[in-house]
Amino acid sequence: MKNKNSYIDIATDLIPAPRLAHSKRVAENGKELAMHWKDNEDNAYLAGLIHDIAKNTSPEIYKKKGITNISKTLLAVFKDFPCLWHSFAAPLYIQHMLNIKNRSILKAVKWHTTGRGNMSKLEKIIYIADYIDPCRKISTISYVKELAWEDLNSATFAISVSTIYTLLATNRNIHPFTIQCHNYYYKFIEKKRSKEICSRILKSLN
Ligand SMILES: [Fe+2]
Repeated sequence: MKNKNSYIDIATDLIPAPRLAHSKRVAENGKELAMHWKDNEDNAYLAGLIHDIAKNTSPEIYKKKGITNISKTLLAVFKDFPCLWHSFAAPLYIQHMLNIKNRSILKAVKWHTTGRGNMSKLEKIIYIADYIDPCRKISTISYVKELAWEDLNSATFAISVSTIYTLLATNRNIHPFTIQCHNYYYKFIEKKRSKEICSRILKSLN
């Protein structure tokens, strides 16, 4: 793996400035969480740095760059959930443009928006690190941040509740993996705890 500075150079070339500032904060958040939860800090930093690298791309742009192995499933995501294309399609882009093949990094990037059931530690870290970036101006950030230092599963559950509620409140469709993420962590954590998290999140969003 290259050193941190060479990845920052690559990211600077490929990510527009405002998005790069967010990406660097997610990388730092990811690294801190990885240190706390004893996961690979370099992988967390790099996954955070490149998690949004495919933002503002499309199947057309991919083809122009020589990425031709776009599956039908991925094309359907672009059509039905355009906001999610950048995360689901990112592994192809990252492998082609950066030659990064590390599967745990690619998966952490892929699942950073919807989450899913049974995520790896790194997947949860990047899912959380992205959500708690202050640029989002979401009222639940400080509570989720607090949870992230206590228990990654509780923080993941809290984000799924917040995401689903926000999508419903703004009349948007919900990807099945967002639901899967919610249901998995709902079952995973203690009933009393999930009830408490749910009510704190909803109170804060209302
Ligand atoms: Fe992001």
